[in-house]
Amino acid sequence: MDNRAVGVFDSGIGGLTVVKEIMKILPNEDIIYFGDTARVPYGSKSTETITKFSFQNTRFLMSMNVKAIVVACNTASALSLEKLQDEFKIPIIGVIEPGANMAVKATLTNRIGIIGTEGTIGSRAYEKAIKKLKPEAELFAYPCPLFVPIVEEGWAQTEVSLLVAKEYLKPLRQLNIDTLVMGCTHYPLLTNVVSEVMGKSVKLINPAEATAAKLKEILYANNLQNNINKEGNYKYYVSDNPGRFSTVGGRFLNSDITEIIKIDIEKY
Ligand code: DGL
Repeated sequence: MDNRAVGVFDSGIGGLTVVKEIMKILPNEDIIYFGDTARVPYGSKSTETITKFSFQNTRFLMSMNVKAIVVACNTASALSLEKLQDEFKIPIIGVIEPGANMAVKATLTNRIGIIGTEGTIGSRAYEKAIKKLKPEAELFAYPCPLFVPIVEEGWAQTEVSLLVAKEYLKPLRQLNIDTLVMGCTHYPLLTNVVSEVMGKSVKLINPAEATAAKLKEILYANNLQNNINKEGNYKYYVSDNPGRFSTVGGRFLNSDITEIIKIDIEKY
């Protein structure tokens, strides 16, 4: 057993959807979260830039003595996870492989849709991960960049999000998929709207759930789980604007975030 914290990083606020799932199934683990709010969004940036950012974020979390790291950001997972795993010695997990696994288990027709940022979709990371598990799967991937600002604006449950979802998902509705991977940290907040547009028969996959389960599996397999019988302690770090993180992040977590510390990520 190991009582050090688990580190989680994201491009900003969205990774709190992953934190929420970790809190549910590993309630006594301490978590140190870093949201790169100074440099968000990652979704439209190059592999080179995202890799540089991911290395800095990881070095910051390593400096906090975490025992494992979750790359909560789909874009950072898609573009830089393997390089992080090659470089650092502690377990580092991303959201793509767990999400792909969950989608493969859910589909009955092998027709799977994927939505995410431009970076995630452009990398074809979900497609590669799904094909590895199920070569016969037929995959249809579309970027939905406006979903991120709409969710952060607090418009997830409005006419605006419904209209935008109808437009983005139009091609996917014609493709007869039975499973859709919500391949971006913000999309779980759009579950109702996406489900309304796609129809109740399409199973929506939230990779955050599968990632939390994978983290649990890895902690136990490596004897890294926290056995102390108390609720986890949560610390939040950002690279800019803690006030906005508190307001918007509270909506993601469904609870107040009080202690948020601003750091200079360029130092790492
Ligand atoms: N966290 C990002 C992701 O899951 C979405 C926000 C961004 O573009 O930075 O891909």
